[in-house]
Amino acid sequence: MIETLLPPTVVAVHAFADLPGEAPYPGEQDLVAKAVETRRREFVTARRCAREALDKLGHPPGPIRSGPRREPVWPAGVVGSITHCAGYRAAAVARVTDLAGLGIDAEPHDALPEGVRETVTVAGEPDLLRRLGRGHPTVHWDRLLFSAKESVYKAWYPLTGRWLGFEDAELSIDPAAGSFTARVLVDGTRADGGRPLTELRGRWLVARGLILTAVSVPR
Ligand SMILES: CC(C)(COP(=O)(O)OP(=O)(O)OC[C@H]1O[C@@H](n2cnc3c(N)ncnc32)[C@H](O)[C@@H]1OP(=O)(O)O)[C@@H](O)C(=O)NCCC(=O)NCCS
Repeated sequence: MIETLLPPTVVAVHAFADLPGEAPYPGEQDLVAKAVETRRREFVTARRCAREALDKLGHPPGPIRSGPRREPVWPAGVVGSITHCAGYRAAAVARVTDLAGLGIDAEPHDALPEGVRETVTVAGEPDLLRRLGRGHPTVHWDRLLFSAKESVYKAWYPLTGRWLGFEDAELSIDPAAGSFTARVLVDGTRADGGRPLTELRGRWLVARGLILTAVSVPR
Protein backbone atom coordinates (compact mmCIF):
# COMPACT_ATOMS: atom_id res chain seq x y z
CA MET A 1 0.00 0.00 0.00
CA ILE A 2 2.51 2.60 1.15
CA GLU A 3 4.80 1.85 -1.82
CA THR A 4 2.22 3.49 -4.11
CA LEU A 5 2.97 6.81 -2.39
CA LEU A 6 6.71 6.64 -3.04
CA PRO A 7 8.98 6.79 -6.09
CA PRO A 8 9.75 3.43 -7.76
CA THR A 9 13.34 3.48 -6.45
CA VAL A 10 12.00 3.02 -2.90
CA VAL A 11 11.55 -0.48 -1.48
CA ALA A 12 8.72 -0.73 1.03
CA VAL A 13 7.57 -3.74 3.04
CA HIS A 14 4.52 -3.85 5.29
CA ALA A 15 2.69 -6.22 7.65
CA PHE A 16 -0.88 -6.21 8.95
CA ALA A 17 -0.14 -8.59 11.82
CA ASP A 18 2.72 -9.70 14.06
CA LEU A 19 4.19 -13.21 14.14
CA PRO A 20 3.22 -14.78 17.46
CA GLY A 21 6.18 -14.92 19.85
CA GLU A 22 8.71 -13.37 17.47
CA ALA A 23 11.82 -12.40 19.46
CA PRO A 24 13.77 -9.16 18.99
CA TYR A 25 16.61 -9.48 16.49
CA PRO A 26 20.12 -9.99 17.94
CA GLY A 27 21.65 -6.59 18.62
CA GLU A 28 18.24 -4.93 19.04
CA GLN A 29 17.07 -6.61 22.28
CA ASP A 30 18.14 -3.73 24.53
CA LEU A 31 16.08 -1.24 22.47
CA VAL A 32 12.85 -2.86 23.71
CA ALA A 33 14.07 -4.61 26.87
CA LYS A 34 11.85 -2.45 29.10
CA ALA A 35 9.01 -1.99 26.60
CA VAL A 36 5.43 -3.15 27.10
CA GLU A 37 4.26 -6.04 24.93
CA THR A 38 2.43 -3.92 22.32
CA ARG A 39 5.53 -1.74 21.80
CA ARG A 40 7.80 -4.80 21.62
CA ARG A 41 5.59 -6.40 18.98
CA GLU A 42 5.32 -3.32 16.75
CA PHE A 43 9.07 -2.77 17.01
CA VAL A 44 9.98 -6.38 16.17
CA THR A 45 7.62 -6.60 13.19
CA ALA A 46 8.56 -3.20 11.74
CA ARG A 47 12.28 -4.01 12.10
CA ARG A 48 11.67 -7.31 10.26
CA CYS A 49 9.93 -5.36 7.48
CA ALA A 50 12.94 -3.03 7.37
CA ARG A 51 15.41 -5.94 7.06
CA GLU A 52 13.33 -7.44 4.27
CA ALA A 53 13.33 -4.10 2.46
CA LEU A 54 17.09 -3.72 2.95
CA ASP A 55 17.60 -7.25 1.61
CA LYS A 56 15.82 -6.20 -1.58
CA LEU A 57 18.31 -3.34 -1.87
CA GLY A 58 21.14 -5.90 -1.50
CA HIS A 59 22.06 -5.28 2.15
CA PRO A 60 22.87 -8.27 4.39
CA PRO A 61 20.77 -8.65 7.56
CA GLY A 62 21.95 -6.90 10.71
CA PRO A 63 20.61 -4.96 13.67
CA ILE A 64 18.99 -1.59 12.97
CA ARG A 65 19.79 0.58 15.96
CA SER A 66 18.01 3.79 17.03
CA GLY A 67 19.82 7.12 17.18
CA PRO A 68 19.68 9.70 19.99
CA ARG A 69 16.33 11.15 18.80
CA ARG A 70 14.91 7.65 18.16
CA GLU A 71 15.65 7.81 14.43
CA PRO A 72 16.48 4.46 12.83
CA VAL A 73 20.18 4.14 11.98
CA TRP A 74 20.39 2.75 8.45
CA PRO A 75 23.41 1.14 6.79
CA ALA A 76 25.73 3.60 5.02
CA GLY A 77 24.29 4.74 1.70
CA VAL A 78 20.67 4.11 2.71
CA VAL A 79 17.81 6.43 3.69
CA GLY A 80 14.61 5.09 5.16
CA SER A 81 11.69 5.37 7.50
CA ILE A 82 9.57 3.20 9.79
CA THR A 83 5.97 3.45 10.96
CA HIS A 84 3.58 1.41 13.08
CA CYS A 85 0.04 1.79 14.32
CA ALA A 86 -2.66 -0.68 15.39
CA GLY A 87 -2.95 -3.23 12.57
CA TYR A 88 -0.16 -1.90 10.38
CA ARG A 89 3.65 -1.83 10.37
CA ALA A 90 5.87 -0.69 7.51
CA ALA A 91 9.37 0.27 6.53
CA ALA A 92 10.64 1.97 3.39
CA VAL A 93 14.25 2.30 2.23
CA ALA A 94 16.12 3.72 -0.75
CA ARG A 95 19.68 4.30 -1.87
CA VAL A 96 21.01 7.81 -1.11
CA THR A 97 22.03 7.93 -4.74
CA ASP A 98 18.31 7.82 -5.62
CA LEU A 99 16.70 9.87 -2.85
CA ALA A 100 17.96 12.38 -0.27
CA GLY A 101 15.42 11.40 2.35
CA LEU A 102 12.03 9.91 3.11
CA GLY A 103 9.42 9.68 5.82
CA ILE A 104 6.39 7.42 6.17
CA ASP A 105 3.52 7.39 8.65
CA ALA A 106 0.39 5.32 9.29
CA GLU A 107 -2.56 6.27 11.48
CA PRO A 108 -6.01 4.83 12.15
CA HIS A 109 -8.59 6.57 9.96
CA ASP A 110 -10.37 8.27 12.85
CA ALA A 111 -10.78 11.85 14.01
CA LEU A 112 -7.99 13.15 16.25
CA PRO A 113 -8.78 13.03 19.97
CA GLU A 114 -10.56 16.10 21.36
CA GLY A 115 -8.25 19.11 21.65
CA VAL A 116 -5.36 17.73 19.59
CA ARG A 117 -6.33 19.50 16.36
CA GLU A 118 -5.58 22.89 17.93
CA THR A 119 -2.08 21.80 18.97
CA VAL A 120 -1.02 20.47 15.55
CA THR A 121 -2.38 23.18 13.24
CA VAL A 122 -0.95 26.56 12.33
CA ALA A 123 -1.93 29.63 10.28
CA GLY A 124 -4.45 28.73 7.55
CA GLU A 125 -4.69 25.01 8.42
CA PRO A 126 -7.92 25.17 10.48
CA ASP A 127 -9.60 26.86 7.47
CA LEU A 128 -8.08 24.27 5.15
CA LEU A 129 -9.51 21.43 7.30
CA ARG A 130 -12.96 23.05 7.31
CA ARG A 131 -12.88 23.44 3.52
CA LEU A 132 -11.72 19.88 2.94
CA GLY A 133 -14.33 18.56 5.38
CA ARG A 134 -17.13 20.34 3.49
CA GLY A 135 -15.98 18.97 0.12
CA HIS A 136 -15.04 15.44 1.25
CA PRO A 137 -16.82 14.67 4.53
CA THR A 138 -15.84 10.97 4.67
CA VAL A 139 -12.13 11.68 5.20
CA HIS A 140 -10.74 12.52 8.66
CA TRP A 141 -8.66 15.43 7.39
CA ASP A 142 -7.37 16.39 10.84
CA ARG A 143 -5.78 12.96 11.28
CA LEU A 144 -4.47 13.10 7.74
CA LEU A 145 -2.79 16.44 8.45
CA PHE A 146 -1.30 15.01 11.65
CA SER A 147 0.09 11.98 9.80
CA ALA A 148 1.46 14.10 6.95
CA LYS A 149 3.30 16.26 9.49
CA GLU A 150 4.77 13.19 11.19
CA SER A 151 6.00 11.98 7.78
CA VAL A 152 7.51 15.41 7.22
CA TYR A 153 9.35 15.21 10.55
CA LYS A 154 10.69 11.72 9.82
CA ALA A 155 12.14 12.96 6.51
CA TRP A 156 13.30 16.28 8.02
CA TYR A 157 15.16 15.08 11.11
CA PRO A 158 17.83 12.87 9.49
CA LEU A 159 18.59 15.63 6.97
CA THR A 160 18.83 18.51 9.43
CA GLY A 161 19.51 16.95 12.84
CA ARG A 162 16.99 19.41 14.29
CA TRP A 163 13.56 19.35 15.88
CA LEU A 164 10.59 20.54 13.79
CA GLY A 165 7.40 21.29 15.69
CA PHE A 166 3.85 20.99 14.35
CA GLU A 167 3.75 24.80 14.32
CA ASP A 168 6.90 24.97 12.17
CA ALA A 169 5.33 23.87 8.89
CA GLU A 170 2.10 24.77 7.11
CA LEU A 171 0.40 22.15 4.98
CA SER A 172 -1.59 22.40 1.83
CA ILE A 173 -3.46 19.27 0.79
CA ASP A 174 -4.74 18.37 -2.67
CA PRO A 175 -7.74 16.07 -2.21
CA ALA A 176 -7.99 15.10 -5.88
CA ALA A 177 -4.32 14.36 -6.49
CA GLY A 178 -3.76 12.65 -3.13
CA SER A 179 -0.79 14.88 -2.47
CA PHE A 180 0.35 17.48 0.05
CA THR A 181 3.03 20.11 0.43
CA ALA A 182 4.56 21.30 3.70
CA ARG A 183 5.91 24.84 3.65
CA VAL A 184 8.65 25.03 6.25
CA LEU A 185 8.33 28.14 8.42
CA VAL A 186 11.78 27.87 10.06
CA ASP A 187 15.38 27.64 8.85
CA GLY A 188 15.67 24.59 6.60
CA THR A 189 19.47 24.36 6.44
CA ARG A 190 20.60 20.78 5.98
CA ALA A 191 23.42 19.07 7.86
CA ASP A 192 24.71 17.53 4.61
CA GLY A 193 25.01 20.89 2.82
CA GLY A 194 22.21 20.01 0.40
CA ARG A 195 19.55 22.46 -0.78
CA PRO A 196 17.72 23.86 2.28
CA LEU A 197 14.38 22.25 3.06
CA THR A 198 11.92 25.06 2.42
CA GLU A 199 9.18 22.77 1.13
CA LEU A 200 8.60 19.03 1.43
CA ARG A 201 6.21 17.14 -0.79
CA GLY A 202 4.27 14.01 -0.08
CA ARG A 203 1.38 11.78 -0.98
CA TRP A 204 -1.48 10.30 1.03
CA LEU A 205 -3.94 7.44 0.86
CA VAL A 206 -6.95 6.24 2.86
CA ALA A 207 -7.49 2.48 2.69
CA ARG A 208 -8.40 -0.45 4.94
CA GLY A 209 -9.29 1.84 7.83
CA LEU A 210 -5.87 3.51 7.72
CA ILE A 211 -4.41 6.83 6.70
CA LEU A 212 -1.00 6.44 5.08
CA THR A 213 1.29 9.34 4.23
CA ALA A 214 4.76 9.48 2.72
CA VAL A 215 7.25 12.24 2.03
CA SER A 216 10.20 11.89 -0.30
CA VAL A 217 13.01 14.40 -0.71
CA PRO A 218 14.58 14.26 -4.17
CA ARG A 219 18.33 14.40 -4.59
C1 LIG B 1 8.91 10.88 15.89
C2 LIG B 1 7.42 10.82 15.71
C3 LIG B 1 7.04 11.52 14.40
C4 LIG B 1 7.02 9.33 15.63
O1 LIG B 1 5.69 9.22 15.62
P1 LIG B 1 4.88 7.97 16.29
O2 LIG B 1 3.57 8.49 16.65
O3 LIG B 1 5.68 7.28 17.31
O4 LIG B 1 4.62 7.18 15.02
P2 LIG B 1 5.16 5.89 14.27
O5 LIG B 1 4.90 4.66 15.02
O6 LIG B 1 4.56 6.01 12.93
O7 LIG B 1 6.72 6.09 14.09
C5 LIG B 1 7.66 5.66 14.99
C6 LIG B 1 8.97 5.52 14.26
O8 LIG B 1 9.42 6.80 13.83
C7 LIG B 1 10.81 6.73 13.69
N1 LIG B 1 11.39 7.91 14.30
C8 LIG B 1 11.35 8.26 15.59
N2 LIG B 1 12.03 9.39 15.77
C9 LIG B 1 12.52 9.77 14.57
C10 LIG B 1 13.32 10.86 14.13
N3 LIG B 1 13.76 11.80 14.97
N4 LIG B 1 13.63 10.94 12.83
C11 LIG B 1 13.19 9.99 11.95
N5 LIG B 1 12.44 8.91 12.32
C12 LIG B 1 12.11 8.82 13.61
C13 LIG B 1 11.29 5.46 14.41
O9 LIG B 1 11.66 4.50 13.44
C14 LIG B 1 10.05 5.02 15.16
O10 LIG B 1 9.90 3.64 15.29
P3 LIG B 1 10.89 2.75 16.18
O11 LIG B 1 11.08 3.49 17.47
O12 LIG B 1 10.19 1.45 16.31
O13 LIG B 1 12.18 2.68 15.38
C15 LIG B 1 6.64 11.50 16.89
O14 LIG B 1 6.83 10.76 18.06
C16 LIG B 1 7.09 12.91 17.16
O15 LIG B 1 8.03 13.15 17.90
N6 LIG B 1 6.37 13.93 16.57
C17 LIG B 1 6.65 15.31 16.84
C18 LIG B 1 7.42 15.95 15.72
C19 LIG B 1 6.55 16.19 14.54
O16 LIG B 1 5.83 15.31 14.12
N7 LIG B 1 6.60 17.40 13.99
C20 LIG B 1 5.79 17.80 12.88
C21 LIG B 1 6.62 18.67 11.96
S1 LIG B 1 5.63 19.45 10.72
